[in-house]
Amino acid sequence: SNPQSGANTPAGSPVLPDAAPEPQEPAVIRRADYAPYPWRVPAIRLDFDLGLETTRVEATLTVEPNLDADAAEDIRLDGDGLVLESVHVDGEERTDWRRDGEALIVPLSSGKHTLTIVTRILPSENTQLMGLYASNGMLCTQCEAEGFRRITFFPDRPDVLSVYTVRMEADREAFPVLLSNGNPVEEGLLDGGRHFAEWHDPWPKPSYLFALVAGDLVARTDSFTTMGGREVALGVWVREEDLPRTSHAMESIKRSMNWDEETFGREYDLDRFNIVAVGDFNMGAMENKGLNIFNTKYVLADQETATDADFDAVEGVIGHEYFHNWSGNRITCRDWFQLSLKEGFTVLRDQLFSEDMHGAAVKRIGDVRVLRSVQFPEDSGPFAHPIRPDSYKEISNFYTATVYNKGAEVIRMMRSMAGIEAFRKGSDLYFDRHDGEAATCEDFVKAMEDGAGLDLTQFRRWYEQAGTPQVTAEQRHDGDTVTLVLKQVVPPTPGQPDKAPVPIPLRIALFDREKGEHAGEQLIVLTEAEQEFTFEGFAKPPILSINRGYTAPIALDRDISREDLVFLAAHDDDSFARHEAMQELLLGYLLGDADDEARAAIGTAAQAVLADDALDNEMRAELLTLPPFAYLGERSKIYDPGAMVEKREGLRAWLGHEFAGQFRDYHERLTNLAREEGAQGKQARRMRSLALGYIAAADEAEGARLGLAQYRAAAGMTERQGALAVLAGLDGTEREEALADFYARFADNPLVVDKWFTLQAMALRPNVLDEVGKLAGHEAFTISNPNRVRSLYGAMSGNPVAFHQESGAGYRMIADLILELNMRNPQLAARFVPSLGRWRRVEPGRSAMMRAELERIAAAGTLSRDVAEQVEASLG
Ligand code: ARG
Ligand code: ZN
Repeated sequence: SNPQSGANTPAGSPVLPDAAPEPQEPAVIRRADYAPYPWRVPAIRLDFDLGLETTRVEATLTVEPNLDADAAEDIRLDGDGLVLESVHVDGEERTDWRRDGEALIVPLSSGKHTLTIVTRILPSENTQLMGLYASNGMLCTQCEAEGFRRITFFPDRPDVLSVYTVRMEADREAFPVLLSNGNPVEEGLLDGGRHFAEWHDPWPKPSYLFALVAGDLVARTDSFTTMGGREVALGVWVREEDLPRTSHAMESIKRSMNWDEETFGREYDLDRFNIVAVGDFNMGAMENKGLNIFNTKYVLADQETATDADFDAVEGVIGHEYFHNWSGNRITCRDWFQLSLKEGFTVLRDQLFSEDMHGAAVKRIGDVRVLRSVQFPEDSGPFAHPIRPDSYKEISNFYTATVYNKGAEVIRMMRSMAGIEAFRKGSDLYFDRHDGEAATCEDFVKAMEDGAGLDLTQFRRWYEQAGTPQVTAEQRHDGDTVTLVLKQVVPPTPGQPDKAPVPIPLRIALFDREKGEHAGEQLIVLTEAEQEFTFEGFAKPPILSINRGYTAPIALDRDISREDLVFLAAHDDDSFARHEAMQELLLGYLLGDADDEARAAIGTAAQAVLADDALDNEMRAELLTLPPFAYLGERSKIYDPGAMVEKREGLRAWLGHEFAGQFRDYHERLTNLAREEGAQGKQARRMRSLALGYIAAADEAEGARLGLAQYRAAAGMTERQGALAVLAGLDGTEREEALADFYARFADNPLVVDKWFTLQAMALRPNVLDEVGKLAGHEAFTISNPNRVRSLYGAMSGNPVAFHQESGAGYRMIADLILELNMRNPQLAARFVPSLGRWRRVEPGRSAMMRAELERIAAAGTLSRDVAEQVEASLG
């Protein structure tokens, strides 16, 4: 018998793992403590006997001492919730193993060994959706970051790379399709209605990239011939009823493969590439080697059920996961502190891909909008962390907008400084130098220095420091000389009180006031806390266009008149900068005193945008889109959500009223174009629904009438959802009719039912919180599906009228949700904490109630590591 653990006896009958592990302070993991694993595991064979209720896993590991690490006499393997059945070393059963918490420790002499471990797992009881779990009768896996330890005992860390051979055995009727990483090697029938399949992945990989899928699935198939002439069989695997919605996904795969060859010189490296769509998924998708697993939301799309934005999101996420094959899989991360090495770089790659597919202007504006409304609040809040964090308790909490989106911005800055060609040399060197390795962010930076010819000594601070740099720009004019005075401050963040200046590349242009033109752009790099740049040949002070294309992820305050902003909003030839000027006018009004002159300036700029025939309708709509509440909250010193809703929606009504004729004209005139495929149809749809929003803001009855007409005549989901989003914010029979029709029409399509929940939860109506409460009791609502939870509560927590309801009921609702999800799905639960964590920045009455809800969660007893870490940081 085993002295260390009564719950797991080595021999005899298997028993369940300890129901509740001893509650103990979760350990802090530190980047500085990295040490290589003492063993290498060059190969692993996995034999699965699959079942929904119980699955048996036999893992055979080839292990040998890691000569680059300190020698060890035991091998320590991670585990989580496993039932251990047996341990064999070199063919002999062993009983001298011991448990340390969830880990398994087996004494092992030096030299090469074969370790065979049999475990049992319970997929249908896996509500965390990490490891092997059941979804709609199928079995699938999610192993990043630490889910593989819920399948078998293993060194579940990204720097242990192994060649995987996987054999799956299952009932043939329930699980006709058996997929894993790499290439199929064998399949066949077995007695008792069972069958098996064996897959082999020749590329050594960390455990987080392992995947398995078993289920009743069908595939859309196609093929792609790589630049080196390798023919790759492509498959998009879905449930049969979803097959008609897979063509866009398949086209997106081929476009991604082609783009990565052309843009980064990256070729695919297996005979197969499969994508599987899963209805229950914690995140967007996962880049498992050769077998990407996706949230259905990022695979399924057709005109009837998906909007233009959904189509673009599918393409973008498919690109993202595909691009990981090189930036993530061929070169992976040494440890999880390096997460941005693969995520920041891959987000940049997917952004550039989408820019190339559909034009850079609108894509860049959208990406910056997300950065500023999600990442900026994170960077100025209690959970602020550098893109390469220094410590964590639960790594799942660090799959953040900072690591992903700010990480992408940091690499984009290198690209801007190096230029596109030199950047490519840097990325080529990186891929070449580190292929097959588990690398660090430092390795990437070094490869960029060597390959692109940059000196990134000071630039490394972008990896070390949290916080959004605050830059101010002032102009002095003397004779013919203009002096641009730039100052930067990186604000203190938790654990980082003192910051040093970072290099900030800024693409600028100086518009000659007389000619209304500039003589060319230039890139300047602000490296000091304060620095001056001079420019000659300006008889009059020029108009400064700065951070064009958003070259640096900073907050900028420039000394500029309203008139000059109106000029830029109407004339700047850089689309981003033009949009930015418009946003500055809007922010000036919304964040300042309600000022008639400020509003009039917005009107002048809006008029120019509405009348500009050279603009496409999507860009026009972008220019007329009001800043999101999350960004307005971020930019407010102390946020009063109630007042902000009134002001922002008041401005919308005013604009709708001022330009009523033009919005109606656009709405009417674009009716036919909006029914067309292609870029112009998409642009028309965007402008049409934006116009409808302004019309309704100024005249509810007219908005309801036109909204219902747009809804009824809609040829696809973009027009239908655009109309319903506006109607959902109104009162009256049009709203009720459209909502009822929408549900009846799409009740059997989960992704569209998600939209139905979201549109109602987003509505800026006074009683929206009661509606959300009712919707939580709707027959279609379930807490066990992450998409459904996000569709209702994710939307609700972003709705200032609902979340910030004066009584505090919105905060209570989110806190209740966090507590309900806490143990069932900790990752999902933890995602809702940051909304409450903003309490310090909200007006005092609401602030106290938000904090009180966090305290209630903290006092509620056993918290998951995920929720505990977030709540602690929020209160800290
Ligand atoms: N690597 C995946 C992606 O970026 C995300 C997986 C996140 N998983 C998690 N459990 N946090 O596409
Ligand atoms: Zn990723």
